[in-house]
Parts: sequence; structure tokens; C-alpha cells
Amino acid sequence: MTAAPAHGPREFGAPSHPRPRIVRGAGASLWDDAGRRYVDLGASHGVGNLGASPPEVVRAIGAQARELLYLGTGYESPVREAFLDRLLSLLPDRFGRVFLSNSGTEAVEAAIKIARSATGRTKVVAAMRGFHGRTMGALSATWRRELREPFEPLVPGFVHVPFNDPAALEAAVDESTALVLLEPVQGEGGVHVARPEYLRAARTATERSGALLALDEVQTGIGRTGRLFAFERWGIVPDLLTLAKSLAGGFPIGATVTTEAIAARFRGTHHSTFGGNPLACAAGLASLEYAVREHLAERAERLGARGMARLAGLPTRNVREVRGLGLLLGVEMKEKVAPYLAELERRGFLAIPAGATVLRLLPPLVIPEEDWEAGLDAIVEVVGHG
Ligand SMILES: Cc1ncc(COP(=O)(O)O)c(C=O)c1O
Repeated sequence: MTAAPAHGPREFGAPSHPRPRIVRGAGASLWDDAGRRYVDLGASHGVGNLGASPPEVVRAIGAQARELLYLGTGYESPVREAFLDRLLSLLPDRFGRVFLSNSGTEAVEAAIKIARSATGRTKVVAAMRGFHGRTMGALSATWRRELREPFEPLVPGFVHVPFNDPAALEAAVDESTALVLLEPVQGEGGVHVARPEYLRAARTATERSGALLALDEVQTGIGRTGRLFAFERWGIVPDLLTLAKSLAGGFPIGATVTTEAIAARFRGTHHSTFGGNPLACAAGLASLEYAVREHLAERAERLGARGMARLAGLPTRNVREVRGLGLLLGVEMKEKVAPYLAELERRGFLAIPAGATVLRLLPPLVIPEEDWEAGLDAIVEVVGHG
């Protein structure tokens, strides 16, 4: 076997540039191995809506681990039932079935399989700039060429239409369409918020043609956009909803939510060995309780509005646009964003990119107001003087 390099990470696919070496976290604070504190403005790409190591979730995981670490889905499980009941209680009545897995991409795979099987059709319509994951099905729905090309041929039957263009979407959805798959806010693609008429057109077109509509809320779910689930804002309800990231407060989980009627039309089988395991369900239950009780969505709405107001004044010399919803904000630069992120990191603020030119902010929803203000100050200064 080839020896690992003396320096640098041994992880496959790790970036070549140095990264902070994080050993501990609490709320929106992360500490490196030298004891330096950073303010987390990226929440590990939206996993940390409840903050780092949320105590209630940690306690629930510990208690469940002592009781029963693993149980296959061949058995009934009180903690799985309690979690699913709680999740469904927070969603519109039409939802009645949940497939549990371990990540966002798996949640999307399940949505694609359910849609193809339940409709007996194959075409999947997704959006340009969309991101849905990196396994072969979800990757086929993902837009960016550099993510797709090395792995082609991908799954056949996927087409991409411009985001926020109702006419193009309506034209693409026909009698062969199994699924329309969209993010309510495109996160990885640069923080683009769906217009209300766009999602309404998607709902109408799918109903008209007998296709299913899936909203991918892997990044926007669990309070991020100022509602517990982003679709609540648009007055439409999808047929499939994909969740992951913050659903279990940082513990790996994926969920594909659908209706009894669609589940009844599903032929074949779909399964995950670790899906619905007791630790993930205990963490999920504790996370949902916490998010609801602490009004995290309302907090996201309030702090997000504050952020938009502060960032709206950034100079047009180097900033093209500021956009977002709740605490999912994007500052699109007219140049590469990497040097700005590096300067913010030097000052103790960890923001993340969305593509090459967008500075993305999705802090833990529990971020203390003074940390959020300090982060906004730093961005205004760094970007404003850039
Ligand atoms: C909207 C969306 N869907 C799916 C995924 C894939 O999730 P995971 O990385 O857990 O597979 C992501 C990840 O960023 C996402 O933002």
C-alpha cells in the first residue's frame, strides 16, 4: 500500500488548502486545537441549525445508546414511531409515510425511486443550478457540469429547465414525467429563492400531467428559511419532501416524506440497513422538540431580516446582489469569493461559498445576536473594503 503523505489529510477528496482544525463546538462557536474560537456562519452546510453539540440532542443520543444502539427495520421500535409521529404532526395532513435513510442524497434517491415506481413513468424534471446530492440518481438531478462530467453516463431520463421560469417548466412536464424535483431555495447553486408563481406553476403542471412534485428541503428544512419547512411560505404542498442535514441536530439522517396514496402505488422494494436506527430517531425526536419549543424558525426570520438589512448596503463596486430567505443568505460578488472567506476566517468568522462567487451565510439558528452582529460587521468591513 502507498504510504499516506507525511503532511495533509488522508481523507479522499479533501481540499488541498489548509483548513481550521476544529475539535469542539457549542452553539455557534467552534474551537480549534490551539484553543482559538471561531464564530460559525456556515453550520457545516446547514447541518447545525440547532448549533454544535446541542445538549438535549446529545443527552437523547446518550440515553438511547445505553438502551439500544442498533435495531433493524424488521422490528417495531417505539423511538422510531415517536419520531415519525412527531415529524408527521408538524407537516400537512396529507403526508402519512416516511422513508428513513442516512443522508440527503439518499433521501433524494428514495424520492426518485418512489416517483418512478408509483407513476410507472421515467422522466425527471429538475432545475438548472439545482443541487440534490452526489449518488448517481441525485447527481443526475444536480446541475453543475463539473460535478457530473467525471461520472457520466448518469441515469437517463433527467432534464433541466431554467429555475424560476414557469413557462419553461410547464413546457417540460408532460405525460412521461414521473417527477419534478426542486429546491425552494437553491443553496449550493448560489442562494436563489423560488418565486411564488414558480412553485405554484410546478404544482399545477404536475397535477395536470399526473407527475409528482418533490421539494428538496435538505438545506432549507428545520427552520432555516423562517418557517419550519420552507414550502409553508408558498401555499403549496408537494407530494414528496426530502429532509436531512439538521433533522437530527447533527446526527446523520435522511427522510423522504410522502402520502399514503403514493406509498400504496409503490411497487418493488426500497430499504436501508441503517435507516431509521434508534440513535438517529432519538436525535431526530429531540431535535424537532427543541426546534419547535425554542421557535428557531421565528429566530431565523428575525435575524435573517437583520442580516439582509445590513448587507443590502454593500457596495455595488464588487457586489452583484444580496439575496436569501431567513438565515440562508448569499452575497454574490463580481469576483472570486475565496479571498474574502480567507480574510473572514483570519478574523475568526467561518462563512462558506456557494460556487466560485457567492459568499453563503447559514449560521446556526441559535447564534447569539452579538455574534451575528459581529459577523455582519466583519462582512461589511471585509467586503466593503475589498
Ligand atoms: C438541497 C440538497 N439536497 C441534497 C443534498 C445532499 O445531502 P447529503 O450531502 O447529506 O447527501 C444537499 C447537500 O448539500 C442539499 O443542499
